[in-house]
Amino acid sequence: MTGTTSRLVLPRYLQEQDGQRTPVAFDGYRSTGLRAPLRTPVDLPHRLTEITGPVLGEDRVTAGDADLTLRAGGEAQGQRIIVFGRVLDSGGRPVPGALLEIWQANAAGRYRHVVDNWPAPLDPHFDGLGRVVTDSLGRYEFTTVKPGAYPWGNHHNAWRPAHIHFSLFGQAFTQRLVTQMYFPDDPLFGQDPIFNAIPPAARHRAVAGFDLGRTQPDWALAFEWDIVLRGTEQTPFETDDDGDVA
Ligand SMILES: [Fe+2]
Repeated sequence: MTGTTSRLVLPRYLQEQDGQRTPVAFDGYRSTGLRAPLRTPVDLPHRLTEITGPVLGEDRVTAGDADLTLRAGGEAQGQRIIVFGRVLDSGGRPVPGALLEIWQANAAGRYRHVVDNWPAPLDPHFDGLGRVVTDSLGRYEFTTVKPGAYPWGNHHNAWRPAHIHFSLFGQAFTQRLVTQMYFPDDPLFGQDPIFNAIPPAARHRAVAGFDLGRTQPDWALAFEWDIVLRGTEQTPFETDDDGDVA
């Protein structure tokens, strides 16, 4: 190779730090005892396929998908909230074009799901599903209702703190994150093994912040939550130095 030949340099994923990763098995979270992998995860090498394959097209996402309060011709019951934030990579840079999908219980704490049959009411105008693609600055925003707590049978009198499930795809399928967003000062944190499986130093990152400035007067409260995807140290680019070769 000469010094003037352009070559594609692949991004490198940062290794997760010890003490920051939520364990796959956690004593208090009973089902992890049956489902968690028994062997140490293997970090796969990162090759060209992972960053150049097709990702999800945003043409399948409509503006209405980000508003969970208007479904089936009516308005959902509950405390209307705006959930917003940015998707960032591990270098702190915005991730545009990331697909966010959320699912959550309704205001009474019940999912519209065949196996959720605890005696809380379903809402005919709330399905609990939303999705949006981040804009050029990595921003996202949902309009929804605050989910209720629900019992889940993990231990005696077990209740999940209010939470919203998030799935994120970044700019490659290897940039995937499935997580949960919590609300500040939830009195149920102390007895929830899923929340407490997160290492203490990282728990605050799973909790949204209330933002009075982003509330909409006479309309909705607002919560901000930034999400950091497993990211890249650098984006792919053409170079003429002696970096890694695709
Ligand atoms: Fe849940």
